[in-house]
Amino acid sequence: MSYDIAEKLALLGGPKAKRTPFPTGKRHGELEKRYLNEVIDSDMLFFYMGTKVRALEKRFAEMYGMKHCIACSSGTSAVHMAVAALQLPFGGEVITSAITDMGSLTGMLYQGLVPIFADVDPDTLNMTPASVRRRITAKTRAILVVHHAGLAADMDGFLALGRETGLPILEDCAQAYCCRYRGKLAGTMGAINSFSLNHFKHISCGSGGMILTNDDRLRYHASLFLDKCYQRDEGIRNPFFLAPNYQMTELQGAVALAQLEKVENVVAARNRLGVQLDALLTQVPGVTPQKTPEGCRHGYFLYVFKLDLPELGCTTQEFSEALNAEGIPNRAHLITGGRPVYLYDIFQKRSAGPRSPSRTTPTGAATARWPRRPSIAGSR
Ligand SMILES: Cc1ncc(COP(=O)(O)O)c(C=O)c1O
Repeated sequence: MSYDIAEKLALLGGPKAKRTPFPTGKRHGELEKRYLNEVIDSDMLFFYMGTKVRALEKRFAEMYGMKHCIACSSGTSAVHMAVAALQLPFGGEVITSAITDMGSLTGMLYQGLVPIFADVDPDTLNMTPASVRRRITAKTRAILVVHHAGLAADMDGFLALGRETGLPILEDCAQAYCCRYRGKLAGTMGAINSFSLNHFKHISCGSGGMILTNDDRLRYHASLFLDKCYQRDEGIRNPFFLAPNYQMTELQGAVALAQLEKVENVVAARNRLGVQLDALLTQVPGVTPQKTPEGCRHGYFLYVFKLDLPELGCTTQEFSEALNAEGIPNRAHLITGGRPVYLYDIFQKRSAGPRSPSRTTPTGAATARWPRRPSIAGSR
């Protein structure tokens, strides 16, 4: 394949490169409606007494060849459940990627754990075992591997590090459905591994998440953590640890179950197009697509590439605008809002907790803290 650069840029008045409409991209249809109708007809929206969430868990576990799947309300809650299931001590450190979504970190913070950020490989954008190794201290308790943009990280390296140090390895597969690494699926290698079903993911039920594990103990703890620590199977309502309500409803379960039937085709189509685009873009001076290592099947959740700005003679913003003008929607610096997660205010200003020293909004306004002081008549 080759490309044609003879035309004037659309930004400068030339014809658009993309002249045919994109497919509708409609993702939800008859199957989702059928399963949703079945839920409504059943009059049961609660996962524990319904059938759809259970069917989703069974089907996903089978697809991945894993013993247990637990569905929940979001990818953020899935990571939280995974981290909580490990029962790590307060103040422990969990090493993860500097380029990820806040959802990888929220659960750690709620569990009193400290995220430690590893560097990413500039070619794959995935965190590297070498960088993680440099950050291991006496306080390190786990490693959360993020498979960025649909490309598996170096799991052989991370699993070897896990064996050497005894640290549990978790996988955050929110962006990495059906993503293969040396014959294995991302999400089958770590001790307990999470997925997201938010609107932007390969498959979606609006908001949802899932975890996979082969470990009975982790499954048990995670399943209680999902559900206020109610031991429903045992008929016991007497929580023995603090746990939120992260249940998935039957409505989400119905849509997610229907979406699961489509996920392999969705990823296969993205992979086919992504590989083609890689081949074309590597011919373009100044543009370098994300590198897919040998033995990996990229799921192209995002299509990311690097620009050599001196070679191109423009800024990232100008490049992005030119591409948009050609009819190719894109965003400059899309990843994590244009900065690695450790530069977020929550970490820079240490403002995670209600008693944190600096709690200001990005616009500078101080956030309200209530109650300032009780004003009941007669109180001192
Ligand atoms: C790597 C990663 N982890 C976790 C999450 C959180 O998922 P959710 O938005 O479903 O809470 C996301 C979502 O973008 C993600 O990309």
